[in-house]
Amino acid sequence: MDRRYEAIIFDLDGVIVSTDRYHFLAWSQLAWQERIEFNEEINHRLRGVSRMESLEIILEKASKRYTPVEKLELAERKNEVYRGLLGDLTAGDMLPGVVDTLSALRERGHKIAIGSSSKNTPVILERIGLSGYFDAVADGNGIKHSKPDPEVFLLAAGRLGIPPEQCLVVEDAEAGVVAAKRGGMAAAAIGEARNCKEADYSLGSIADLLLYV
Ligand code: BG6
Ligand code: MG
Repeated sequence: MDRRYEAIIFDLDGVIVSTDRYHFLAWSQLAWQERIEFNEEINHRLRGVSRMESLEIILEKASKRYTPVEKLELAERKNEVYRGLLGDLTAGDMLPGVVDTLSALRERGHKIAIGSSSKNTPVILERIGLSGYFDAVADGNGIKHSKPDPEVFLLAAGRLGIPPEQCLVVEDAEAGVVAAKRGGMAAAAIGEARNCKEADYSLGSIADLLLYV
């Protein structure tokens, strides 16, 4: 069968699994403890961005200055809450249509990969039963620069051995769409990124991907 894209690289949080809600809950708790204003609009800017960069965005609203050591402590505190929430994660937390779409892509001969800024990627894949399922995984543990830098997607493409122009990235974050385009890849936007102008495709649901690949 003719393939427009040899490889499909998926963001994880908010594309494969609903952990984007857990990030929001954990940051909300930290912001509340520190008496820092936090809301969905601010949360939108955290999508696709590393933990420490997310913290810097949250601290824009803080009335006190935090030292580097205090910032590390805050990020660690948020991550502990987040990891606690991940304890309840199961395959049932995968977003609708994910399992069928992934298996249809494999049947059509596409390579599939994860490209996520999250250092918790291995534990999440384990909990939802997808450890070892993808042809390659690139995550926050293997990169220096998070989205919108293309590093994580280029790492995933390199691990697959597929040139960037033959890769399609699926993202729910504007930063991720921009990263894909900067890396020379096509981008399909879903969820909160759906109206992102830089995206090549807008997906109403993940199954729509099968129309474009
Ligand atoms: C991304 C999320 O996938 O991972 C961001 O969209 C998050 O919101 C980032 O900050 C880093 O995640 P973690 O699990 O390493 O704190
Ligand atoms: Mg995401």
